[in-house]
Amino acid sequence: MVSGLEDVVAAETILSDVDGQSGRLIIRGQSLDELVKHATYESVLTLLWEGFFKELPPASDMPMLLGTARQKVFKHFEAADAELVQQPTVDAVRALIARLPDADDIGSALLLVAAPAVFTPGILRLQRKLEPIAPNGKLGHAADMLRMLSGETPTQEQASALDRYLVTVSDHGLNASTFAARVVASTRAGLTSATLAALSALKGPLHGGAPGPVLDALDSIASPEHASTWLQDALDRGERLMGFGHRVYRVRDPRADALKEALKRLTQSGQVDAKRLQLAESVEAAALDLLARKKPNRPLQTNVEFYTALLLEALGIPREAFTCVFAAGRSGGWIAHAREQAVNGRLIRPQSRYIGPTPHQPQQDAAA
Ligand code: COA
Repeated sequence: MVSGLEDVVAAETILSDVDGQSGRLIIRGQSLDELVKHATYESVLTLLWEGFFKELPPASDMPMLLGTARQKVFKHFEAADAELVQQPTVDAVRALIARLPDADDIGSALLLVAAPAVFTPGILRLQRKLEPIAPNGKLGHAADMLRMLSGETPTQEQASALDRYLVTVSDHGLNASTFAARVVASTRAGLTSATLAALSALKGPLHGGAPGPVLDALDSIASPEHASTWLQDALDRGERLMGFGHRVYRVRDPRADALKEALKRLTQSGQVDAKRLQLAESVEAAALDLLARKKPNRPLQTNVEFYTALLLEALGIPREAFTCVFAAGRSGGWIAHAREQAVNGRLIRPQSRYIGPTPHQPQQDAAA
């Protein structure tokens, strides 16, 4: 029995490779560092989905098809009653995704990628007693997400920062949510089922729910000189520092650097609060120092969630929606893995070792 399935290989994939020793992420043959320089999220969908659908449209059609899918899913806000809107954002978004047909064709895949991008801003607006804004199918996916939230067309820098985020988180080996998607797909249930299972795994604070608490910590620390004491107190209470540590990476998470770069560009164009960034850098340095001393034999480095928190905050996305924006990016990867599992894999059905009590045995008792 391997606790947490650490180091267990449970699938073969052509989709992505997480090299935890050298801090490298490869997505379908391209290293993340290179991919973020030229790819849009729409182009990454073509890259990830190639070979897994009978009729995959050419890359040039993907922006238009995804735009149409955004417009199609928008009608589901009809089902967003007061009870649904009051739920935590990720739960409300999940409930709306559950309304989509559970099929496994390219049309369903596009709806499932469009869904978190449309439902997240709409639910956030409904929670603030505002009307959801209808998608503009002609805009890029990232730009339209930001517009559906604020009502204003984002700057070029903002749209490309969110686009870079979506590309950066699009796929990442056999993480917990992707594994959940593959388990469901292995039973031959449809893509909506696989996506719902994945989103449910993603929302936990040890997976995709960490960036909100990163900002809570920054708010509470408030100024760089308090960082070390605050973090030490949290460790003394036995808490984990959110945004640090990873199951696979033993060096810095390459996605953290890809996002830090996007944040720098926003800062250069005056769209990030410089003081906030300075605070974050001090907190990062203090946390790395304390974690190195606490766990000298287990390298604990900055992970993707730390800079996700800062980037999404700078884009005006409220922290309760961070997991949903993560899902908007990862949905492309979940679908690719679900298709890969359904096409090439077997039913996933591991064993458990029973360590409970044995049944009462009346015959032996009688003999005694
Ligand atoms: N802060 C403090 N201690 C940490 C830590 C963190 N962020 N991450 C790991 N540790 C400690 C653990 O408490 C454990 O100590 P122990 O052996 O005394 O119990 C040790 O380091 C090994 O951790 P382990 O639980 O084996 O790591 P894991 O591989 O199971 O967990 C994470 C990986 C990501 C769940 C873990 O690092 C974590 O909880 N990080 C914070 C949440 C987060 O940022 N999640 C987003 C991930 S992308």
